[in-house]
Amino acid sequence: MKVAIIGNGKMGKIVDRIAAGRGHEIVARIGREGNEAAAALTPERLAGAQAAIEFTSPAAAPANLRRLIEIGVPVVTGTTGWYEHLDEIKKHVRQHDGAMVYGANFSIGMNLFFRLAREAARLFSAYEEYDPFLFEHHHRFKKDAPSGTALVIAEAMRQSYRDRTPAPVSVRAGYVPGAHEIGFDSEADTVTMTHTARSRDGFAAGAVFAAERIEKRRGCFEFSQLLFEGFDESEVK
Ligand SMILES: NC(=O)c1ccc[n+]([C@@H]2O[C@H](COP(=O)([O-])OP(=O)(O)OC[C@H]3O[C@@H](n4cnc5c(N)ncnc54)[C@H](OP(=O)(O)O)[C@@H]3O)[C@@H](O)[C@H]2O)c1
Repeated sequence: MKVAIIGNGKMGKIVDRIAAGRGHEIVARIGREGNEAAAALTPERLAGAQAAIEFTSPAAAPANLRRLIEIGVPVVTGTTGWYEHLDEIKKHVRQHDGAMVYGANFSIGMNLFFRLAREAARLFSAYEEYDPFLFEHHHRFKKDAPSGTALVIAEAMRQSYRDRTPAPVSVRAGYVPGAHEIGFDSEADTVTMTHTARSRDGFAAGAVFAAERIEKRRGCFEFSQLLFEGFDESEVK
């Protein structure tokens, strides 16, 4: 598959390595320079690209996505911190019959964690003596706080906790790739569940997997929709 990579930062470089390792050809690598307001995302620069993988910044992502959708390149975006534009971008996908996958976290383990968090919240919320909490720790370079992942976990918990949903507590220090913990604390005991990313490779592998899935499809998908396709139908009731 021919892939364009938008954003040449930490994630863009890993996507480059992992996509190439899976036999894909990188036909364009577009960094910040010359791409203000997505100016470099032209049909000429992206000629032949069957999918684009975008890891940039919250400020740059909406313009990049709009442009990729307009020129008909299916896009996978892992950038977080721009979701206030999500409804508008989804509309853009529909208007242009485009294809997009977005996700605050492209790791398979974390997507399973989202489901476990929702189920844990459903069980613990029945017992007032347990207070829920949500904690995340990322490296000092991460710009958005709370993380997009923490917001997704909070949403999963909100289904049961409503106005008792815990606000994520964020730490930005050191070099941690990403750690998220949920917990339920009572006078008698504490129950915690933690997801710790060991490296960034899992995120990049998920983004490449999504690009392989989106190439021939239309519509807007949250990553887990692609990941668990067929899973819910076969769930044992
Ligand atoms: N969904 C997931 O699984 C996942 C996993 C990890 C990270 N993320 C998110 O992905 C994003 C990128 O993370 P990162 O660690 O790769 O950050 P990073 O190392 O800061 O890289 C971002 C890159 O985007 C470039 N950039 C900025 N504006 C651009 C534009 N208009 N066009 C093209 N490139 C542009 C930056 O260039 P300059 O260096 O010149 O500013 C930088 O090289 C963040 O939002 C992060 O939270 C998501």
